[in-house]
Amino acid sequence: MRKTIIVSNRLPVKVLRSATGFILQTSEGGLATGLGSIYNQAGNIWIGWPGICTEDAAEQEQIRLLLQEFNLIPVFLTKEAIERFYEGFSNEVIWPICHYHPSYAVYKEENWSSYQQVNTIFARQIQQLVVAGDEVWIHDYQLMLLPELLRQQNDLLSIAYFQHIPFPSHELFRLIPWRNQLLRGILGADLIGFHTYDDSRYFIDACVHLLDLKTRKNLVKHVGNSSYVEAYPMGIDNKKFERLAASPQVIARAAVIKAAFNESQLILSIDRLDYSKGIIERIHAYEQLLIQYPQYKKKVVYYMLVVPSRDAVSQYKILKDEIDRLVGSVNARYGSSDWTPIAYFYNTYPIEELSALYVAASVCLVTPIRDGMNLVCKEFIASKRHGKGVLILSELAGSAKELIDAILVNPCEINGVAHAIANSLSMPEEEQRARLDGSLENVSTYNIDHWVQQFTTRLREIKSLQQSEM
Ligand code: G6P
Repeated sequence: MRKTIIVSNRLPVKVLRSATGFILQTSEGGLATGLGSIYNQAGNIWIGWPGICTEDAAEQEQIRLLLQEFNLIPVFLTKEAIERFYEGFSNEVIWPICHYHPSYAVYKEENWSSYQQVNTIFARQIQQLVVAGDEVWIHDYQLMLLPELLRQQNDLLSIAYFQHIPFPSHELFRLIPWRNQLLRGILGADLIGFHTYDDSRYFIDACVHLLDLKTRKNLVKHVGNSSYVEAYPMGIDNKKFERLAASPQVIARAAVIKAAFNESQLILSIDRLDYSKGIIERIHAYEQLLIQYPQYKKKVVYYMLVVPSRDAVSQYKILKDEIDRLVGSVNARYGSSDWTPIAYFYNTYPIEELSALYVAASVCLVTPIRDGMNLVCKEFIASKRHGKGVLILSELAGSAKELIDAILVNPCEINGVAHAIANSLSMPEEEQRARLDGSLENVSTYNIDHWVQQFTTRLREIKSLQQSEM
């Protein structure tokens, strides 16, 4: 029977050391939930890094056994590989280039070697598990070389690659010294997916301009194969967020949060620590709100949750210091003994707490400078089936192509964002409801199940198309 193998850098669980051995921390992330319908089926598996480094064979075996019953297979990476492949190459070359921050890119041969080695380790491990006809669905930029490596090993696999981050203009991508190898790596896949049409076009353009390949519409032709490049905007598990938001525990918790801030209107943001998220610009916009609309002083609180991420990478450390400094300065300048303008938390919260924040918030600010998709805005919308609230969304998030009923802003236009916050705070309830309903329709129809279904059906279609052409 044909089986499906999901591959990503991280497994949907994290293995942690405990006093008695190892324990699993499961991810509540959208991808983990959505792909559950695939990898939980008997015979299917998910392969990835378990989030822990150990070179002890006995410990590795223990972890392998622990994960086995959940259809998960660990790829063990050394501390050095995490430093070079993950931090040094994935997150200091590909991430900044794909998010239009070329000045943050650090090109080092040894990190490129490590990236190649780790992709090869993944390929070898997958090779031991697959037979002709199996499907392999590879996720994200940490594994750009993997499709080609697998194709070389087994020509009869169905291979899909989905990139969750943006793909930039070829003018930017060409800065990467190893750009051609990366493009050829991805082209090992039969189906290549992005969240937006623009990203898929940029990828096709890069194949034309950098590899001199021929294309026809969404098809890129290359030696021995051709790849379809298409857009599949990812959705969320909308029902889960609706259920949580309607649960008595979450409603009670939301009331406690509101009371803790004296029933002020809450402006909410939730982001991983990342320079692509526009956190600094957003703090400046909030400061402008306080300056230009002083009537909101003591009436609003900006609840800013930053989720720790990649803090060993230097640009992330610098960003963290800058956020700490800026929040301190705004609170010191505009706050008073009975009011703190920004409630700032650097922490990871469980999904119930996030849900309570969505319920409690009057305004949700999602203002990345670049984002492949962004699911926070969809989670906020799904949490507002019965409530009120306004979503302010950056034009530069992939989700802006879908959530056109949000207040769309350019995150770098600081005054524009400040005005958008003021307008949202005073928006009549009927308008809030009408905008939420428009977005809700989109979030409910194009949810995570729809995304998985569309993508996997298309992969099968393409495979049978290729076979009929042979
Ligand atoms: C983004 C990327 C994912 C990544 C996630 C968390 O959403 O697209 O591939 O897993 O960030 O980042 P981390 O570096 O912690 O895996």
